[in-house]
Amino acid sequence: MNDHLHLIQDLIANRRTIKPAQYTGEPVEDAFVELILEAANWAPTHGYTEPWRFTVFKDEALEGLGRFLAELDQPDSKAEDFNLQRFERLRKRPAQASHIIAIGMVSGKNPKIPEIEEICATAMAVQNMWLTAHAMGLGAYWSTGHLAFKDETRAYLGFPDGAKSLGFFYLGKKAVDNPQGRRLSPIQDKVAWRTKN
Ligand SMILES: Cc1cc2nc3c(=O)[nH]c(=O)nc-3n(C[C@H](O)[C@H](O)[C@H](O)COP(=O)(O)O)c2cc1C
Repeated sequence: MNDHLHLIQDLIANRRTIKPAQYTGEPVEDAFVELILEAANWAPTHGYTEPWRFTVFKDEALEGLGRFLAELDQPDSKAEDFNLQRFERLRKRPAQASHIIAIGMVSGKNPKIPEIEEICATAMAVQNMWLTAHAMGLGAYWSTGHLAFKDETRAYLGFPDGAKSLGFFYLGKKAVDNPQGRRLSPIQDKVAWRTKN
């Protein structure tokens, strides 16, 4: 029991956002990615809706994803304010990862379970993936931004109509040690305890 407690405290506190520029460029074995996805599927849900959906990008598909996002951001390369540097940054970023797990959410049919619960459950699935990747010594990061939530992105990722696209889980071998974590305020500032009516 105590061993588990220390282990989970350590994993939670030392998991970090490690971005694609901090990856070595070496591939992560697919078997590790499968284990990360398996961890996602153990997230809890209200009513077994299991709303998370994932599309895994690797190899050449990463370049296609980069181009898609760069063109969605700036569709007109002839436009006066076209920013080539920004375009190239967006285009090249996905290929810095070994794999990108695009995150989708499909709401269940039960009207008693509102969409917000499905989004909460999907976020729990992502945390499971993130902790698992960290326990494997891999770098990982959840990327969102305005492009992630667009319906065009949802369709590109192959998630069905009505589903939501919730961003990208980048994965790679780390070229750096995990940085020191920081939080702007302690938990006590965010918690109220009630003991009396
Ligand atoms: C839902 C979600 C979306 C995020 N989107 C972005 C993002 O688009 N860009 C970014 O730099 N970081 C993003 N992050 C990562 C946070 O910036 C990061 O988790 C935070 O700085 C705390 O650092 P840590 O993960 O190392 O504890 C996202 C995190 C979450 C949970």
